[in-house]
Amino acid sequence: MTPPPLPPTPRRKERKEGDIGSVFASLSGEAEAVLPPRFLDLKRSIIGDEANQAALRKGWASLTRRLAQRADEIEAKQQAAITYEEFIERPSKQLIDEIKSCGTVVVRNVVSEEQALKWLDEIREYVKLNPQVKGFPADDKQVFELYWSKPQLAARAHPRSMAVQRALLSLFSRSPDTPVSLETPLTYADRLRIRNPGDAKFALGPHIDGGSIERWEDPTYRSVYERILRGKWEEFDAWEIGARGEAKQNMYDGAGACGVFRAFQGWTSLSDTGPTEGTLRVYPFIQEMSAYTLMRPLFKVIQSRAELSHDAYLAPGNWELDLETSRFPGSPLARGQELNDDTHPHLALSRTMVSLPRVKPGDQAWWHCDVIHAVEAEHRGTGPSAVMYIPSVPLTAQNAEYVRDQRESFLAARPPPDFPGGVGESGFQGTGREEDVVGLAARNAMGLDAFDFHEGLSDDERAIREKDERAIREKANVVLGI
Ligand SMILES: [Fe+2]
Repeated sequence: MTPPPLPPTPRRKERKEGDIGSVFASLSGEAEAVLPPRFLDLKRSIIGDEANQAALRKGWASLTRRLAQRADEIEAKQQAAITYEEFIERPSKQLIDEIKSCGTVVVRNVVSEEQALKWLDEIREYVKLNPQVKGFPADDKQVFELYWSKPQLAARAHPRSMAVQRALLSLFSRSPDTPVSLETPLTYADRLRIRNPGDAKFALGPHIDGGSIERWEDPTYRSVYERILRGKWEEFDAWEIGARGEAKQNMYDGAGACGVFRAFQGWTSLSDTGPTEGTLRVYPFIQEMSAYTLMRPLFKVIQSRAELSHDAYLAPGNWELDLETSRFPGSPLARGQELNDDTHPHLALSRTMVSLPRVKPGDQAWWHCDVIHAVEAEHRGTGPSAVMYIPSVPLTAQNAEYVRDQRESFLAARPPPDFPGGVGESGFQGTGREEDVVGLAARNAMGLDAFDFHEGLSDDERAIREKDERAIREKANVVLGI
């Protein structure tokens, strides 16, 4: 018997017009906002009773010691970089362990260099045809408010890119009752950037996607980090999906907030770009950075940096549980989570953020949703540093709802629901249309065709997973109304 249809949730409201400058407090020049007193209550409830307080203090001491060791190791550390074939066909355990410890991976040659350069040419042509396109900074556009160009549609739907997305999702584990399909990537339309040599304006400092204060405030989101918040950070597994799929990442309608659970953020390179040329920088130990990010607001410093040596300032004895303030450093409402040497000193980000290795057109970079990342402040290279942002998004009911709304934006060639609103590309020439999304997996990912119940499942998983898969795919079809 077919289950009765779910009551449709209302479509998201369109956002105000704007560009990426409105997403981060630091890009828009805002000072740290004081959070309302209810966040002190929240903090106190997380810090909990005496037993939890003791566990947190113990966890903080061991974590900050580990971070100091890690900072010394990082200078010697290289980012994992592997070929498409290695990743898809024969990943070694060592390779998988490395990716899981680091949280970031470069996958080489996902599409051919020739194809990627052709996409870049086509994008430039599209921009030339439509000079009214918005971008950041407004006087020399480099992060374009473009979502529906034909090369973007083609890159998101490329079979090898979708295979990488599936392989990335399979790094996560899930319990059988978690309503998520890790075999079914969805499309999340995002912008593209073509950064010119010499640019220093798009200096996106260290930040984490997927909301800021929501990680603590939303009980579902908070449950993902429960081990950390109980002081047992070494037991935290960043690769367990848990309740991530149902977490509220956007409680304040933030300009940069993401309406889907994005397991990995990623980009596809359209240029030959290396360190110092405006590439991505990441902190390369995921368990430690998640633990520190989540524990940091629960502690406050006793003696300030000015009064002590650097080591004495960071020592566990100089930090105590904060039961008095509503401060959540770098976590303003409706803005992205930012981190720096003042707000998160133990990470020593000014020396521990490492640049990605040199990439060629057609290579992809991927980073786990909890990874602290930044864009190099200055682009000192000679050529453009160009990427299309394409994440890896699993099928969940919440993600299907977003794709339903995004489909409407796509069909009207307006910006997707998460992005600054306005007419977008609706009056543009040469915009991608529904007929440009080809192939069942790509059309499923865009919510354009109904999911069937076998496609995309490997044989050995089919028997075990079929029931769960059927449930989530059925649910998605109801949400999508197809
Ligand atoms: Fe980001």
